[in-house]
Amino acid sequence: MKSDDLIITIKKEISAIKDIVNLNILKIKYLGKKGYISSQFLLIKKLNKKEKINKSIIINSQKKQIKKIIKERIKEIKLIKNNKQYSNHEIDISLPGKFIKIGSEHPLNYIIKKIENFFVKIGFKIVIGLEIEDSFHNFDALNIPKYHPARTEKDTFWLDKNILLRTQTSNIQIRIMKKKKPPIRILTSGKVYRNDYDNNHTPMFHQIEGLYIDKKVSFTDLKGILSIFLDFFFGKKYQTRIRPSYFPFTEPSLEMDILNKNKKWIEVLGAGMVHPNVLKNVNINSSKYNGFAFGIGVERLTMLYYNINDIRSFYENDLRFLKQFKLNNFI
Ligand code: DAH
Repeated sequence: MKSDDLIITIKKEISAIKDIVNLNILKIKYLGKKGYISSQFLLIKKLNKKEKINKSIIINSQKKQIKKIIKERIKEIKLIKNNKQYSNHEIDISLPGKFIKIGSEHPLNYIIKKIENFFVKIGFKIVIGLEIEDSFHNFDALNIPKYHPARTEKDTFWLDKNILLRTQTSNIQIRIMKKKKPPIRILTSGKVYRNDYDNNHTPMFHQIEGLYIDKKVSFTDLKGILSIFLDFFFGKKYQTRIRPSYFPFTEPSLEMDILNKNKKWIEVLGAGMVHPNVLKNVNINSSKYNGFAFGIGVERLTMLYYNINDIRSFYENDLRFLKQFKLNNFI
């Protein structure tokens, strides 16, 4: 039989086969040790050199073609099997697909990011502080006296005699100043804990703390930056005021209020020039360096921003509350 005719015949034979077992039998018939191709190679042994070469080229090409035909048929048989499996199940293409509900960012996280963006733009670096802290970093080094009422169990969650849940993000000031030399310009945000609960207080809430230490930092710098920040944040929608205040870790100290819709002044942040005692506690020379610090109440700002009147709504995970914000900036 001519080589081409042979291949055509084999092709027909293979395409008539409908399962892998029989296909393997056929494969042995042609490609096996005692199969057709091997027998052809045995036959050419007696031929002269030139004929041997010519013939072996032909046989090798046949071998290649048969292999290919078998491989393709295996694929076809598998595909037919698969299709059969699926066609046994009825697929209803009119059924609606499965929807993945896309959640949205929590309003507090959104506000934290917005505030961080502002301060990053003016050169502050974001750092992360500890929520479980010792009394040195949360109180002593911040010049908070031993008898201060904030230290009592009524206000602070103590884990043991010396360890507590931080009551303020101001602990970051000490941690950073112990490690870094001025100039320092950092911002941290996070959870703080106090033993308090009503519609304006929850045992856990969020603060943002900023610290700026350098040579010749002035009180005017502090007032300027905070005023610009609040104007940026509220788009000048609210009137703001600065009034004198007291914090053990700053001198002088101030607080900033915002006049809300009911014409009531609401305190949103505390700040001041870092007290020389605090600088001394972290070995920074206060005759060479000074600076300011501030602490922002995140829940207060968010409540004013969105007109929310009960702080507890942030933590109840009521979808009707959360769905109102549709903050998908993270996608
Ligand atoms: N830590 C203060 C608080 O929790 C807020 C505060 C006031 C932070 C003045 C500061 C500051 O950095 O300078 O009430």
